[in-house]
Amino acid sequence: MFPAAHLTGKVNYVGVNDRKTHLFENMWPLPHGVSYNAYLIDDEKTALIDTVEIGQLNHFLKKIDSVIGNKPIDYLIVNHMEPDHAGSLAQILLRYPNITVVGNKKTFGMIEGYFGIVPKKLEVAEGHTLNLGHHKLTFYMAPMVHWPEVMVSYDATEKILFSADAFGTFGTLDGGVKDTELDLDKYWSEMRRYYSNIVGKYGSPVQAALKKLSALEINMICSLHGPVWTQDIDKVVALYDQWSRYEAEEGAVVVYGSMYGHTEEMAEVVARGLSDNGIKNIVIHDVSNSHESYILSDIFRYKALITGSPTYSNELYPGIQNLLHKLETRGVRGRLFGYFGSYTWAGATLRHFESFAERMKWEVIGSPVEEKMALKADATQALLELGKAMAERLKQTE
Ligand code: FEO
Repeated sequence: MFPAAHLTGKVNYVGVNDRKTHLFENMWPLPHGVSYNAYLIDDEKTALIDTVEIGQLNHFLKKIDSVIGNKPIDYLIVNHMEPDHAGSLAQILLRYPNITVVGNKKTFGMIEGYFGIVPKKLEVAEGHTLNLGHHKLTFYMAPMVHWPEVMVSYDATEKILFSADAFGTFGTLDGGVKDTELDLDKYWSEMRRYYSNIVGKYGSPVQAALKKLSALEINMICSLHGPVWTQDIDKVVALYDQWSRYEAEEGAVVVYGSMYGHTEEMAEVVARGLSDNGIKNIVIHDVSNSHESYILSDIFRYKALITGSPTYSNELYPGIQNLLHKLETRGVRGRLFGYFGSYTWAGATLRHFESFAERMKWEVIGSPVEEKMALKADATQALLELGKAMAERLKQTE
């Protein structure tokens, strides 16, 4: 027996926790684990909404059994095909051979592509409905949040939005499932890290989805990761709105790469310049020690970014180059940008940072600083000035 959690009416949480996987998508650290959420509506017709990652199949099936026992499942609704959710799909079809899979045109292309299966299917499109008895689901397409086949399902009876990955967070559900049952402290920063790393490129599709969903009355959001949102719905929707507009708080992220400590010293000085001029929210990251997922998350949070790099093979330090590539990929907009660098025989960092800022269409603040070998008095003063200029520009954005 592995009991599911009862959410409301005939709706049950049958998701699972994963505390074994260290890297989500084999890239993003999971210090608090992750949950793969799925839901089971036990109505006149039974409907399973999404499945779980294949390694968690055993727990998942036990939870389903605890709700419906030997009863068959009539529908499997597939809101999202990424394998952390659709991984168990083929096993569910084997166990429930008469199940009808509900998805859109793109969903079925992916089911065939991943599993070589053409299931018994109900293909739905925008606004189509499915009557389960007491519950009636309406389907809305949410393409590129963050895959092309993504759709969400809305239960008009209980006013529940099954939102696919949207509003999801890293972090397991330890005992409780709803936001009212959990200490939410660990989830807020993990939600931003999830958004900035997994969904961050797709600000415009997220805005389109939020606009579409704003017409719905929603009492509960059932995401595919993290807490079920009830009392904090307004907050999570506002956060998604903020992040998908690339809006940020007052504060600065200083990121540097440094082999022997000279560029690191420059980073400390520029941060002092920020602090001396009234900025409290300052985060310094050594790009070789902080995982990029945390750096990206902080850059989504704060308005200013100051980067520093030594010249390395006439290029930027590789970790810094990699970070800039990720920012460019995500199309991060509207950051205030400052930069500095160091070199031993020929400096190249400033022109690389300048061309990055041009491509991003970011506002460059203050005068870039470049030092040859060890940090000396003139460059120290220039770095303090750079920090001051950024602090003053940040204050103007209040
Ligand atoms: Fe949680 Fe896009 O999968």
